[in-house]
Order: sequence, then structure tokens, then C-alpha cells
Amino acid sequence: MELKNKDIRGGSVGNLDVLIGLFYGDEGKGKIVQYLADSYDLVCRFNGGPNAGHTIYINSESVVLNTISCGIFSGPSLCADGMVVNPVLLKEEIEKVIKYGADVKNNLFIGTGVHIILPTHLLMDKAEEMAKGDNKIGSTQMGICPVYRDKAGREGVRVGDILQPNFKDIYDRQVAKHCKILMELYNYDATVELATMTEQFFSAIEYIKQYKNNFVNSSAFVNDYLQKGKKVLAEGAQATMLDISFGTYPFVTSSRTLASAASSELGIGAQYTKNVYGVLKAYTTRVGGGPLATRVGAELEAYLQEVAHERGARTGRPRNVAWLDLPTLRYAIALNGATSMVLTKLDIFDLMKEDLKICTHYMVNGVEKNTIDFNLVTENDNVVPVYTDFKNWQGQKSEGIKKYEELPEQARVYLEFIETQVGIPLSIISVGAGKDDLILK
Ligand code: GDP
Ligand code: IMO
Ligand code: MG
Repeated sequence: MELKNKDIRGGSVGNLDVLIGLFYGDEGKGKIVQYLADSYDLVCRFNGGPNAGHTIYINSESVVLNTISCGIFSGPSLCADGMVVNPVLLKEEIEKVIKYGADVKNNLFIGTGVHIILPTHLLMDKAEEMAKGDNKIGSTQMGICPVYRDKAGREGVRVGDILQPNFKDIYDRQVAKHCKILMELYNYDATVELATMTEQFFSAIEYIKQYKNNFVNSSAFVNDYLQKGKKVLAEGAQATMLDISFGTYPFVTSSRTLASAASSELGIGAQYTKNVYGVLKAYTTRVGGGPLATRVGAELEAYLQEVAHERGARTGRPRNVAWLDLPTLRYAIALNGATSMVLTKLDIFDLMKEDLKICTHYMVNGVEKNTIDFNLVTENDNVVPVYTDFKNWQGQKSEGIKKYEELPEQARVYLEFIETQVGIPLSIISVGAGKDDLILK
């Protein structure tokens, strides 16, 4: 594909909108992308891999996508170069989306620079987590850290390599190196497991090769859309506080999750980005390790894990639950340049009897903090959240409401407090898991 150096300020140029999670993942990004996708010409994933679990509903059935963008059911969809893929899981996911009606042949595109998760990346992720003991990150064990480490170490294997005649040699060389590391550092002999895993891996590679005409240069591909005046949506995976640079390090993922990463990981100029949708839940959840300063009590947490299905879409692990935390939200909005917020799961409060809380700031050794910094996220014990209480709207429902004015008054008080405190508007409020359970504000 030819790249034309048109003047991007003139003529009909398109734009990129980015949708990212503002907290620790699982904010409901998939559902919102599914809704928005119809208004875009192309939807792209730009970071992470099958550690993500994005849930959508198709004909009242819940479908979780891990690697392919939730836009695949509406039109063209790209797994761009900033991503990593596991061929075995990608094959299963392609079969799944075909079953639900996606036109994969015409609509699924994969960047040649996407890094490939090798079987030994999975074994290393597991061994490394086990060796960390109590300090473990709570990784999804999808091989994410080892594959991005190889990328940064300039020895990763990429989708474009699949088509090289010496692909098996490239694979063997890297896997042999990993086996040596596994043996020397963890006394882990991978030989037996690896035989089956390698067979599955190459069978999946053969399957994926049938889509080789859909392997693209992400940068040229997306730029072509933009130069034709088309609209592109980027679907973030993981979320702000899991960003490798600005999240709650080391309890983060290994990719760049911020809105600014979308343009660089798609391979386009920063000037195309227009709207940045920051998604948050009405409360907060976190799965895996790491600080969570505003965690609710054990009883309410267990209740919400049950009634709000707060379990990881990828791993099934229970999610820890917390009150909405404005210091973190302010930090996340600033990091992403979010232009509006999308709030999901408001309807879950319909099910609760308790009054609600929002953390407006922290007291740290007697000093008020309105945003977070290095010490606040690491030295959690010194952080005392200060809350404002809100009445619940017992007996009334937000679920299924279509117009903002028809929400219970106390729900509007809760939402408007958030807007006032953080200074950007809510554009969408989600009041149920279904695609159309939305209020456009
Ligand atoms: P993602 O990773 O950000 O796409 O989010 P997940 O799919 O991991 O988790 C979000 C969960 O909340 C899924 O089970 C969704 O079906 C569900 N969900 C999304 N929005 C709403 C909502 O407004 N109300 C309810 N009740 N469920 C929602
Ligand atoms: P979506 O896109 C929630 C968490 C893991 C762990 C940490 C590192 O569905 O919002 P990794 O496997 O990336 O090395 O794990 O990050 N994590 C997520 N938590 N949602 C996700 O994705 C996540 N992806 C990774 O639980 O704490
Ligand atoms: Mg998820």
C-alpha cells in the first residue's frame, strides 16, 4: 500500500477516536466499542493480547473477545503492530467470531509487526509468577511479560516471520533459548509439555496462514483510511493504571495502554486523534495484585462479585471491588487527555441497599492529595481516603432507562458530582449489559 504525503491539514482527512479504560481494566470497553463501531469505518486494537477479555452481547448471548476487536461484527477490524497474539488462541477466536456471523475473510486484518506469543512464553510467565511467591503480579499467564520482553530485547518473532521460508528455524532458535532460561533459572524441564504445544502452535500457524492476504503494514493500512477521510476507532485493552510507564508499577501489564499509545502503536501521526473516550465503572474493580486504596468491605465485595458478576472475563478470578476514587480518576484523565467519560454499570447500584461513597481526596501524613503520585500508589498504608456520601435510589431503577432526565434524581446527583469534580463531561452512561442499554448524554 502506497503512503501519500498529503497535507493532513487540507483536503478530506479522517480522524482517530480512542477508547480506553480509566482504571484497572474491565470497565466495559467491549460493550461500548460494539455500540460505537457502527459509526466508524475501521476499529483497531493497538496494545496487549489475549490477557484482555472484552464482553459483548450477540443475540442475548454473552461473547468474550480476547484478541480481535469488538468492532469485527460491524466491519473492518485490525490487530495492529503494538499487539501480541497467541496463534492457538487466535485460531479459536477466529472460529468463534465466524460462528457469530463475522466476515473474517473481508474484515479481519493483522499487522505484520504484531509479536507472536510462543509456547515457551506461556511456560516462562507461569514459572516467573510462581517464583515471585507473595510478590506475584497476578498475571493472566498468557505470556504477556515474556513476549514484550523479547520485543524490547529485539529478538521477538513477528507475524510477518510466519511467511519466511526459515520460520521454523526462527522459532527453534528462540524456543531453545527460552528452554535454557527455564532450566537454568527455574529448574524447569519443558521438553515433554513443549512437544504437544509445538504441534498445536504450528497447526494454528498453518490455519492463520490462510489469511495471509490480510496481513498488512498497520501504519500504511490505517493511514490509507485516514487519507481517504474515514473515521477510525482504537479499542484500548487493559487500562490506564496498568500502563507500563504510568500505572501502579510493578503491578501493571507490559504494554502501553494510554490514549497516546494508540496513534504510535497504529503507526499514524498524533495529530489525527480527536475524541478520547475514558471508560469507568460506577464503582471500581481490580483483578490481580496491586494497590486499591478505596476497597469496599468484605461483605459488600462478596455481594457485588456475585450479583454484578465481578469475575475476570479472561481468567474467571474474582475482582476486588472499590468505591470510585477521584484522585486516580483525575490522574487518568490527565494521562489520556480524555475528552469525555463513559460510565458503565450504574444499574448495579439499583441492587444495593447501602448508601454510596466517592473518594474525593486522600490524606497522606496529614497532607491533602487530590491526585496520585509514585508514593501514593506504592505506599498504600499511609493513604487515608476521604469520602463524600451519597444516598442510594432504593426502590427506583436506572436499569433500562433511555433518557438522562428519567434517571432517579439521586443517580443524577451522583453523576453530576463526578463531572463537577473532574471537569470533563459524561458522554455515555451504561445501564445494563446489552448493546442498547445506554443513555447518550
Ligand atoms: P472490558 O474488559 O473493559 O471490555 O470489560 P469486561 O467485559 O471484562 O467486563 C465488563 C462486564 O460488565 C461484562 O460482563 C459486561 O457484560 C458487563 N457490563 C458492561 N456494561 C454494563 C452495564 O452498564 N451494566 C451491567 N450490569 N453490566 C455491564
Ligand atoms: P481488559 O482489556 C483486567 C491485569 C492482570 C494482572 C496484571 C498483569 O479485559 O480490561 P498480564 O497478564 O498483562 O501480565 O497481567 O494486569 N490485567 C487485567 N486486568 N482487565 C484486563 O484486560 C487485564 N489485562 C491484564 O490481572 O494484575
Ligand atoms: Mg475485561
